Amino acid sequence: MASVSTVILGTGSYAPARILTNAELTKMVDTSDEWIVSRSGIRERHIAAPDEATSDMAVAAARAALADAHLTAADIDLLIVATVTPDMPVPAVSCIIQAKLGLRTNVACFDLNAACSGFVYALDTASAMLTSGRYRRALVIGAEKLSAITDWKDRTTCVLFGDGAGAVVLGVSHEPGVGVIGTQLGAYGDSTDLLCVPKGGSSFPATAESIAAGDHFLKMKGKEVFKIAVRAMEEAARDILEHHHLRADQIELVIPHQANLRIIEAISQYLKVPMERFYVNVDRFGNTSSASIPIALDEARRLGRIKRGDYTLLVAFGAGLTYGSALIRW
Ligand code: UT7
Repeated sequence: MASVSTVILGTGSYAPARILTNAELTKMVDTSDEWIVSRSGIRERHIAAPDEATSDMAVAAARAALADAHLTAADIDLLIVATVTPDMPVPAVSCIIQAKLGLRTNVACFDLNAACSGFVYALDTASAMLTSGRYRRALVIGAEKLSAITDWKDRTTCVLFGDGAGAVVLGVSHEPGVGVIGTQLGAYGDSTDLLCVPKGGSSFPATAESIAAGDHFLKMKGKEVFKIAVRAMEEAARDILEHHHLRADQIELVIPHQANLRIIEAISQYLKVPMERFYVNVDRFGNTSSASIPIALDEARRLGRIKRGDYTLLVAFGAGLTYGSALIRW
């Protein structure tokens, strides 16, 4: 049987106009630019306007990806949106995005929540659906308005997160050895409490008290998450390379989830891949969860950091706790 693989036909991203600097955060909570930069590497982040929803950012990123692929909305038959901040709990934000983009009605639309690993999970899901032969072209979007679930009085989290969206258009290719050549996904479901929005779901529906207590905001035990993140991302990267008989020095560019510069530096050290081969934009975006990898991928392509024949490794980690890696040959 002829080989069929999923290829990236175009990428796009969107960042809200408003930039929130560390200096501004020092006026909101007891923090300093020095603490934020030294502990996380973050200098500024984009924050969506009050009337700008996740779907609006997703649509902007998707339009850019479609233009990059020289395709239109009519060419898409599958839409997967990775997000933890849909416009509303029900329905799926993918359906809202479908309508805003003017996609056809006979398009499969669904959301996927694997938190910061969401884009890698969605890429794997879309790849499986495309290579099954039942779909031809997919739009995969990672989009987040984390500012909407951030407790702006909690200095341990509010300095870390940002808003934005990234998108890819996927198709299939019969050229051997190119495209999404491997993915690996996993989760540590025994650690859900380390990074969560504790209330507002079916186990604890929102009450006036839970809202007053701020329990519908993101809570994170940062130190514990940090340790597991480094280990899981290193393993996810190592395992996928081994599985495909590749050495780390054959990877031209690693695009890690952008949560913390120190996490990225630790992975670079453990994998023995120099930092020059890691794409980093956490300094300008903070942690945008599902959006972080597709935004970085789009920037890297537009900056000419990815050439035909290159291997790119995506590696992610997030609430769940989920992790995932994907290997792409261009
Ligand atoms: O995207 C999904 C996955 N998420 C992650 O991967 C995030 C993983 N975790 C991290 O990135 C880091 O753990 C943080 C950046 C969140 C925190 O860095 P840390 O080096 O682990 O700091 P810490 O939490 O141990 O806090 C150290 C000190 C504490 O004070 P004491 O207890 O030592 O007196 C905190 O209260 O820093 C204090 N602190 C702050 N000080 C100034 C915490 N937040 C702040 C702040 N400004 N914003």
